[in-house]
Amino acid sequence: MNDAPLKTPPDERKLNSPSAEAAAPLDIFAPFRSAAPEAPFVVAQLGLSLDGRIATQTGESRGINGDAALDHLHRIRAQVDAVVVGAGTIEADDPQLNVRRIKGKNPARVVIDPTGRVGSSGKWLARDGVKLLLVSAAGWTPHGAELVRLPLVDGLIPPRAIIEALFQRGLRRILIEGGARTISAFIDAGCVDRLHILVAPVIIGSGKTGLDLAPIARLDQALRPKTDVYPLDGGEVVFDCDLRRPAA
Ligand SMILES: NC(=O)c1ccc[n+]([C@@H]2O[C@H](COP(=O)([O-])OP(=O)(O)OC[C@H]3O[C@@H](n4cnc5c(N)ncnc54)[C@H](OP(=O)(O)O)[C@@H]3O)[C@@H](O)[C@H]2O)c1
Repeated sequence: MNDAPLKTPPDERKLNSPSAEAAAPLDIFAPFRSAAPEAPFVVAQLGLSLDGRIATQTGESRGINGDAALDHLHRIRAQVDAVVVGAGTIEADDPQLNVRRIKGKNPARVVIDPTGRVGSSGKWLARDGVKLLLVSAAGWTPHGAELVRLPLVDGLIPPRAIIEALFQRGLRRILIEGGARTISAFIDAGCVDRLHILVAPVIIGSGKTGLDLAPIARLDQALRPKTDVYPLDGGEVVFDCDLRRPAA
């Protein structure tokens, strides 16, 4: 990965609000472009409240982030080949998982649903010409989606096997969009290159926490990634964590 400050392309200048002069020379999407073509590149995103929540106790997450962070999420979607969510997010949000807030190409949509609980309707199944994949240990898939059948190992489809299966289908740049259980499993498996944490100035005070990684006994075992910070309009902030490089 190249450390040199890179010129910010015009369509990414929105990230660099007047209050973000220090971040202006950085280009948050440079790692997406410079990633080696012969290997997968995996980014995960979390839209978090100030108190580290991704949703209320009842599972509501829409409205945590404002326009600037949502624009950023759509910009990430436009940079990847596939967007991946867990069955819990499909049930809670019925997300479209496409690119609407900016101009850009829709990525393939991938749902991890080991037991086939998401059903045969849902906005992710819209017929808009993109590839639809259901990753499952069961044999069923909704009409229009390709089944990626992978076995459970200790109750989990190994994240590495999922990334490999997507890569074999030509899906190299992959966004793990949520929710907490899905992202946590991919981070625990060492499968995530970059983590974009989109913090919004809201305190929920209860509800679902953003990550639930394998427990550690000591703080020196905690992840301390090299992190760049990008203030956005509306008081939101993107923390761009490089999970392949520890902070100096
Ligand atoms: N703020 C944000 O950025 C954001 C983004 C997305 C979602 N959300 C919120 O997050 C909540 C949902 O998160 P969640 O953690 O409950 O659910 P989730 O991560 O969306 O889905 C978890 C489920 O997906 C399946 N799954 C995912 N990875 C798997 C793997 N490697 N192997 C086997 N199964 C796998 C499992 O289904 P089974 O249970 O069937 O085994 C698992 O329980 C919702 O409230 C949603 O609104 C927030």
